[in-house]
Amino acid sequence: MSQTAQAEIGLIGLGVMGQNLALNIAEHGHRVAVYNRTASRTEDFAASDEAKGFPLTPCLTLEALVGALRRPRAIILMVKAGEATDQQIEVLAALLEPGDLIIDGGNARFTDTIRRDRALRERGLLFSGTGISGGEEGARHGPSIMAGGAAQAYARVGPIFEAIAAKVDGEPCCAHIGPDGAGHFVKMLHNGIEYADMQLIAETYAVMKDALGLGYPEMQAIFAEWNRGELDSYLIEITADILGKNDPETGQPMAEIILDRAAQKGTGAWAVTAALELGAPAPVLAAAVAARSLSMLKDERVRAAKVLAGPSRPAEGDRDALVAALRDTLLAAKVCAYAEGFAIMAAAGKAYHWTLDFGTIASIWRGGCIIRARFLHRIKEAYERDRAVANLLLDPYFADLVGKAQPAWRTVVATATRHGVAIPALSAALAYFDGYRAARLPANLLQAQRDYFGAHTYERVDREGSFHTEWTAI
Ligand code: 6PG
Repeated sequence: MSQTAQAEIGLIGLGVMGQNLALNIAEHGHRVAVYNRTASRTEDFAASDEAKGFPLTPCLTLEALVGALRRPRAIILMVKAGEATDQQIEVLAALLEPGDLIIDGGNARFTDTIRRDRALRERGLLFSGTGISGGEEGARHGPSIMAGGAAQAYARVGPIFEAIAAKVDGEPCCAHIGPDGAGHFVKMLHNGIEYADMQLIAETYAVMKDALGLGYPEMQAIFAEWNRGELDSYLIEITADILGKNDPETGQPMAEIILDRAAQKGTGAWAVTAALELGAPAPVLAAAVAARSLSMLKDERVRAAKVLAGPSRPAEGDRDALVAALRDTLLAAKVCAYAEGFAIMAAAGKAYHWTLDFGTIASIWRGGCIIRARFLHRIKEAYERDRAVANLLLDPYFADLVGKAQPAWRTVVATATRHGVAIPALSAALAYFDGYRAARLPANLLQAQRDYFGAHTYERVDREGSFHTEWTAI
């Protein structure tokens, strides 16, 4: 076998994520054959300072890439999700042999992954839809990896993935999640929770700034302080950094200079859509997605601000007490977002016949990924106590946490509402909590309405069966 036929793994798509992943794999001693559609990018990458000394085999054609790989081959795709992925798979699959493995490391929609998995299986190829979180930095120095597809596929590439993944307490933040679309589904839920987590933090900042009238240095110090306690997480840490940064041009806080329109690439909305389709409640995740959409209506909001008046700000009262209440509120709301996210995954597990191990999922989110946080240990522990707990809010630790946070949480929601600060996710979390803990909801009235206008029937509290009432009969 020639020297070039020795690469252990191939990687297609040398955007920043692809390059960094290739460097990470190579740094761990595995030879990577790399290919990009634009050949000059492959050449530039191979010649770059970062790549110097690493076991990389630059390939200028797909045929060369396929030829450079040890058999059975394993090739990671780091290309744009959607059409581009389908096209890349098509041309690549034509060059592969039965038993070869394609890994899609992009943010693919899990239903696409299920479809691709089936199609490639029929052609004798293995496929692994693998969620990779952690951005550019994670890809280079240790991401969180959520691998999907056949166990056989994971057996082949798992050791490389585990070597390059982030480590927490010596354990790799990497696991085989389940067959076909399971890996990408869990990555999508990670992103749904990421949206919620970010929005909850943004609303907390809005309450601090607009209802309490706090300045940037104060807010920076508060988030930095929170990051030393139970709220310790990557997103709180970067929030403190952001609030402490001034614009070099104007000297103003960077956060004041940045336009208040938050873009989205779609994974948060996919998570909410999936939840809706599964019939799993997702109010906090949905509020976070909607908040981004509302933010995009900047021009309309500027016009509306002149027409639609609200209460005056800031709030009176003990500011230190309100800041402490905000901390408890943020933590409790975050618990609700995660409870919601894990319950959605449980519903998906049932619907798609995946045996998801939630303790493992919490565990591999402790490091490498965007939502990495100290309290994921607590989620892991909750599933160790009861693998089948219906909702994290029922776990004794979380039940106690949200129970204790309740007075503060209600004060914050009431204060923000009274002062006209929009807190869609913080308040949706409280409503989720209140709804979930309600033994009786007003859905009895909905059933009566459905039966009234459509004879949809209803169930009774006192006996089994399906009933209909002639509502207008005297
Ligand atoms: C990650 C991130 C990553 C990406 C988000 C951003 O886990 O590393 O989630 O996948 O940064 O998809 O999503 P939006 O552009 O939709 O905010």
